[in-house]
Amino acid sequence: MNWSAFIRQFHRWTSIVFFITVVANVVAISTGGGAQPPAWITYSPLLPLFALMLTGLYLFVLPYLSKGRGSVRSIK
Ligand code: HEM
Repeated sequence: MNWSAFIRQFHRWTSIVFFITVVANVVAISTGGGAQPPAWITYSPLLPLFALMLTGLYLFVLPYLSKGRGSVRSIK
C-alpha cells in the first residue's frame, strides 16, 4: 500500500472512530438526567476530528500535487 492509499484508509477508519465518539456524546447527554457528562466524553471527538482534518487536507491537495509528475492514478 502506498503512502496516499494508507492516508485515505486512515481517514476512512478515523471517521468511524469520530462517529462513535459523537454517538457516545449523544448517549451520555440524553441518559445523564441533566447532569453534565464526564469531560473525557465531551472532548473525545476532538482528537479523531483533528486527525481527520490533517489527513483530509492532505487528501484534498493530493490531486494538485500529482499534476505534472506523470501520475494520473493518484487522482482516483
Ligand atoms: C475535518 C476536516 C476534513 C477534511 C478537510 C476532509 C477532507 C476529505 C477529502 C479531501 C477527501 C477525499 C475526497 C476525494 O477526493 O475522494 C475525504 C474523504 C473522506 N472523508 Fe473526509 N474530511 C474531513 C473530515 C471528515 C469527517 C468528519 C468525516 C466523517 C466522520 C470524513 C469522512 C470521509 C470519508 C469516509 C472519506 C472517503 C475515504 C475513502 O475514499 O475511502 N471526513 N475527506
